[in-house]
Amino acid sequence: MTAAGTDERAFQALTQKISKARGLSCESYKDKCLKRRIGVRMRARGVHTYDDYSRLLDSDAREYQELLDALTINVTKFFRNLETWDALQPHLRRLGAAQPDLRIWSAGCASGEEPYTIAVLVLDTLGEAAGGRAIIDATDIDRLSLERTREAKYPDAAFTEMPAQLKLRYFRDDQPLPLVRELVHVRAHDLMRERPPRPPYHLIVCRNVVIYFERQAQERLFQVFVDALAPGGVLLLGKVETLFGPARERLRLVDPRERIYTKPPPA
Ligand SMILES: C[S@@+](CC[C@H](N)C(=O)[O-])C[C@H]1O[C@@H](n2cnc3c(N)ncnc32)[C@H](O)[C@@H]1O
Repeated sequence: MTAAGTDERAFQALTQKISKARGLSCESYKDKCLKRRIGVRMRARGVHTYDDYSRLLDSDAREYQELLDALTINVTKFFRNLETWDALQPHLRRLGAAQPDLRIWSAGCASGEEPYTIAVLVLDTLGEAAGGRAIIDATDIDRLSLERTREAKYPDAAFTEMPAQLKLRYFRDDQPLPLVRELVHVRAHDLMRERPPRPPYHLIVCRNVVIYFERQAQERLFQVFVDALAPGGVLLLGKVETLFGPARERLRLVDPRERIYTKPPPA
């Protein structure tokens, strides 16, 4: 077997082991993405082969957590891509007028900037009374990210895209006010393995997450999202990801730039 072939075999053995031992569905992620992130950990630990790294995982239990943190890329910001949130506003107004309760899911929420952005948008667009009838499920696979979401203390860099007047109105000392935090329900959730936390949702936001998944896994997840949407509900994928496969047939594209889709009511 060539060196490259041996390397590939060792890589497959390593990812199977991670999936089995830690329940992370490595097979759902793109190999390129896994190799890049595992490489980061191998360099950090001064290890040169996948076999040696596999042995290190056996001997150092903490390395699994380090690896999981490296595999889950959790870059985010408040109002990341501001124009996306501007585009969502009319849909939020429509949903707010039509629904007595608003159920929202921020899937792959990282350290919480996205669900708190949605909470601010709900309060600012629909009025503070709307806070009482909105629930935002903020989910992620990464334990550290969820701790940060619960703690909700943010560095200046998290606010660079957030309109100053909204920060002034809804934050104190770089933390969201209680009326913002109350809307957000944080929980651990693996998009590859678990069912949606509490469907049906009127709005699902999933941005910069499915890009790391293999095509088949993306297709499966899109179907899960469409099933979890209430009729008239909205799916926001943002600039980076595009809906495809059978799920595409079931939704109407209403904003091609920001990839906003709605679910038509049953005929
Ligand atoms: C780049 S962040 C996106 C954060 C936010 N949605 C945004 O666009 O600013 C990607 C997030 O997806 C999460 N993620 C990756 N695989 C996941 C899975 N199988 N289930 C749930 N979350 C996952 C990562 O932990 C990470 O926090």
